[in-house]
Amino acid sequence: MRVAIIGQGYVGKALGIAAHNAGHSVVGVEIDDSRVAALAGAVGYSVGSDFSSVIGSEVVVIAVPTPLDENRVPDLSYVESACKSVKSFVGAGALIVNESTSFPGTLRNVIAPIMGSDCLYASAPERIDPANEKWGIGNTPRLIAGMSVEATSKALEFYRSFCKEVHEVSSPEVAEAAKLFENTFRQVNIALVNEFAQIANVLGISTHETLAAAATKPYGFMPFVPSIGVGGHCIPVDPSYLSFAAEKAGVEASFINLANKVNVSMPSYIASRIASLLGGSVTGKRIQVAGIAYKADVSDTRESPSLALISALRELGAVVSWHDPVVGTWNGENSAALDSVDLGVIATAHTGVDYMAWKNGNTMVIDVSTTANTGWPKFL
Ligand SMILES: NC(=O)c1ccc[n+]([C@@H]2O[C@H](COP(=O)([O-])OP(=O)(O)OC[C@H]3O[C@@H](n4cnc5c(N)ncnc54)[C@H](O)[C@@H]3O)[C@@H](O)[C@H]2O)c1
Repeated sequence: MRVAIIGQGYVGKALGIAAHNAGHSVVGVEIDDSRVAALAGAVGYSVGSDFSSVIGSEVVVIAVPTPLDENRVPDLSYVESACKSVKSFVGAGALIVNESTSFPGTLRNVIAPIMGSDCLYASAPERIDPANEKWGIGNTPRLIAGMSVEATSKALEFYRSFCKEVHEVSSPEVAEAAKLFENTFRQVNIALVNEFAQIANVLGISTHETLAAAATKPYGFMPFVPSIGVGGHCIPVDPSYLSFAAEKAGVEASFINLANKVNVSMPSYIASRIASLLGGSVTGKRIQVAGIAYKADVSDTRESPSLALISALRELGAVVSWHDPVVGTWNGENSAALDSVDLGVIATAHTGVDYMAWKNGNTMVIDVSTTANTGWPKFL
């Protein structure tokens, strides 16, 4: 098939490689010139910024950002802009697939009206989990739903060419809602375990021993790990797309709102516990945070709770530096070498970080990461 992929970020690139390897003729369209330059010759298919390269495509996939705006309301401007830019180059009968995460009705009520009635439409939400070595684009089941029988069958044909398991649902709205619900499930359970960690602390009980004990129940329980909070552009963002849709329809998404509140408060909760640990105040204390990416072994700092912890500690007067060999630079600051300081915080535990400077300097270290064993006891 001749396939065009609009947006060549994390999702668009992974799809481009999979579709190219499956034998399709792929073009990637990307508005960020530095991204185009970085991908040129590196992915096996052509990537450029010219939307006319879409001419003749049978399948056009949209894989652009769907963030929240400054009021934490869904921002579909990238999706709308991508559709407007590509519209005049898409031929009659082409299949338009949306992989970008959004609320139910986005394909039918936002994308299709811009693109027009000549096209076929399907939803195929991406579920990729960065740095997950077990589950990738080929073996993670893919949800598919078209707006017509013809659209569904064309989408099934395309996705079956590189996905082992494709699960058809009855409408694009179900596929869109399933994607949001999956991530909301994680967000709410993470918030619950983060709240439990705070309760266990005041009760003087070990959170981890309690969770491990609860996890011996062979049914009806799924373990989640307390941490500094949630980051990236999925878990902190997608549930707000669902609550937005709910509230527009007149239903309060109370669990989602509460889970957001608990998760967002974790960095300041940890900062206040650090202050107690350091004798009641962090003013003038030298603190290092290891890992500012939101997840181990990725360089993505979007919505990272480590950044909120750094800000909270600095506001309290601490002298904070950070170490992250994967991120390198952030906000005009560079990753600092680990050093003997008043307190070290393992926020995100990238593989291969050498904590020897902390060990040798007898630095007090707390581990609030989700990584099972960093060599230090879990703080939460
Ligand atoms: N990264 C993930 O782990 C993941 C997982 C599942 C779903 N998603 C969803 O997939 C979508 C894309 O996410 P991503 O991680 O690839 O984002 P990204 O920011 O890595 O990539 C998006 C790319 O689209 C480009 N772009 C923006 N507007 C464009 C336009 N009008 N035309 C062409 N290119 C445009 C950007 O320059 C960027 O390179 C989002 O809806 C996201 O929520 C992401």
